[in-house]
Amino acid sequence: MKIVAIVPAAGQGLRLGESIPKAFVRVGSRTMLELSVRALLDSGVVDQVVVSVPAELVDEAAALVPDATVVTGGAERADSVRAGVEKAPDASYYLVHDAARALTPPSLIRRVVDELHAGQQAVVPALPVADTVKTVNAQGDVTDTLDRSQLRAIQTPQGFEADLLRKAYEPTQLGDKTTDDAGLVEKIGGTVRTIDGDPMAFKVTTQMDLRIARALVSE
Ligand code: CTP
Ligand code: MG
Repeated sequence: MKIVAIVPAAGQGLRLGESIPKAFVRVGSRTMLELSVRALLDSGVVDQVVVSVPAELVDEAAALVPDATVVTGGAERADSVRAGVEKAPDASYYLVHDAARALTPPSLIRRVVDELHAGQQAVVPALPVADTVKTVNAQGDVTDTLDRSQLRAIQTPQGFEADLLRKAYEPTQLGDKTTDDAGLVEKIGGTVRTIDGDPMAFKVTTQMDLRIARALVSE
């Protein structure tokens, strides 16, 4: 029952706006890449970690996370995940976990794996949405107000039976710009179970998020 964690870390971090790719930005003394890999290994339930990084940073990543397997990522997040999946074809289960969720607690990783062991084929952490969510048209006029009680914000790690994720990532999906692995599984008819997410698994996307992450680490 081999559990392989794929860590997409090949993004440029355009919204963060630092001079280096986001996963290589430090939160406290460690890079987000190191923190994410460490949490996965500390969970005690992951057998192998595969990280997807920009081509020019493969050597640097290998030095930062010597316990992980490093592969070259792609132009879209889906390409980076696919590269990781192909590097570990012998997995029974995959966890896909954004490097940018640097403060994710090992306890959340264990809870995702617990659900896989209990027989779920796909598992995602989910949090209630605090803000009201509306849809708008091109001019910015509101077209609908969604029922918040039915909405969830989805985090990672997302856990999958290996065959199901491989099928979701088959070449027919190439060029897919999805940023959500479970979304691909939904498209091929898979059942995706939510579990309670963890606020600490928030994604560092903007400078505000980075300030929050650094403040939390220095606490
Ligand atoms: N990612 C990746 N390969 C890509 C794009 C994204 O591996 N081609 C990874 C990022 O490194 C990150 C995770 O997917 O760990 C979530 O993506 P996001 O937060 O959007 O990061 P970036 O794409 O780097 O940021 P931005 O969209 O602001 O440029
Ligand atoms: Mg992105």
